Amino acid sequence: MSYLKKTDPEIYKLIKLEEKRQAETLMMIPSENIASKAVEEAIGTSLGNKYAEGYPRKRYYQGQTIVDQVEDLVRERAKKLFGVPAVNVQPLSGSPANFAVYTALLNPGDTLMGLSLSSGGHLTHGATHTASSKYFRSIPYDVDKNGIIDYDLLFKTAKKERPKIIVAGTTAYARLLDWKKFALTADEVGAYLMADIAHVAGLVLADVYPTPVPFVHVVTTTTHKTLRGPRGAIIMTTQKGLKKDPDLAKKIDSAIIPGIQGGPHLNTIAGIGVALKEASTTRYKKYCQQIVKNAKSLAHELKKYNFDLVTGGTDCHLILIDLRNKGILGRITAIACERAGIILNYNRVPFDPNPSLYPSGIRLGTPGITSRGMKEKEMKKIAFWINQIVNGLIETKRKLKLNMTQERDRKLREKIIRLTKVTKFINIEIKKLCKKFPVKKTY
Ligand SMILES: Cc1ncc(COP(=O)(O)O)c(C=O)c1O
Repeated sequence: MSYLKKTDPEIYKLIKLEEKRQAETLMMIPSENIASKAVEEAIGTSLGNKYAEGYPRKRYYQGQTIVDQVEDLVRERAKKLFGVPAVNVQPLSGSPANFAVYTALLNPGDTLMGLSLSSGGHLTHGATHTASSKYFRSIPYDVDKNGIIDYDLLFKTAKKERPKIIVAGTTAYARLLDWKKFALTADEVGAYLMADIAHVAGLVLADVYPTPVPFVHVVTTTTHKTLRGPRGAIIMTTQKGLKKDPDLAKKIDSAIIPGIQGGPHLNTIAGIGVALKEASTTRYKKYCQQIVKNAKSLAHELKKYNFDLVTGGTDCHLILIDLRNKGILGRITAIACERAGIILNYNRVPFDPNPSLYPSGIRLGTPGITSRGMKEKEMKKIAFWINQIVNGLIETKRKLKLNMTQERDRKLREKIIRLTKVTKFINIEIKKLCKKFPVKKTY
């Protein structure tokens, strides 16, 4: 980065500071990961200079011979790896990918069914205040009292509401999705079934999470989570999708451009290609197996400390903790964990009585720390530290005689965290652990 340092020392300095922050803390937000140096190099190339509106051999500008080959190569890799007949690698990220599918298949006002935000669905699956509920009629489905998707209710609601599309995908759900049950409902009501595997795409490729491909019509995914690529997305049309509508892939291509996007980011597409190549190795498979082993081990350890895990555990890369039995909110816990060097996020839990800015839960995952080579032994330590932080916060609150509502006050929250000294000691330990497991970026 010698050119950057000379040309723009301010930006250079901020990048270096962020690199240091990532190196010295535990990346435990389940949607984050560490892309390889090879991916980083592909993103930072002159491919980004090229305008290429359209698709290979059907572009609007000249000079496309090379970038056509890039896009073709990446499309072929995605088709082969996921086992689908058609893919679009141009979506700029997961949210526009989902919106493109909706605009391809729905008319404004048509009905869409997705998992509610409070049950672990994503904003783009029909949540209020988003385009997915503003332009379409959004009817959510939910989890049951055990935190598991209520497939019976989904079936009944779909029969009543006749959605044109059902979205099966999650952002804060620790169990496997039953693709077969989703397909039963969608087929019964004649709806399109879209799987959004943004979080688990890598796990699907590594065979540690079941593939939705035989059951659904369309699959969307981001490329920067378990897949460990650059920020981007892929839309896939399955055989089943083409059987339902032979023009499905064409409709999706048109929904991307001219529908909602202009020129594709060819540098990112090249980076996605690199990530897909990395994901086809045995090493990657082992990496994904370890992600799940680590998450299960962390869940097991947390339960020993009486943490209440939504659904009682995990089958994938993430854990959702309901902190109500501890008498502390998610937000203060997430901030205190950050001070200690554990980066996770506060999150609502199913049937959360508390508002989204001060929810009852935290969400954490293992893709980032597994990329650094951490294993079960380290999960034990992390669970121990999280327990110490939570106990420390509870003890400080008790001493200050503060309740959960007062904890929402910014000044009081800061006071509790400041007086919870254990975060400082844990931070020293976490920095030591991070040194032992440096960010390698080679796989
Ligand atoms: C399931 C799911 N779909 C879509 C998205 C949106 O992706 P992006 O943030 O790239 O727009 C996310 C992001 O976290 C997600 O979890």
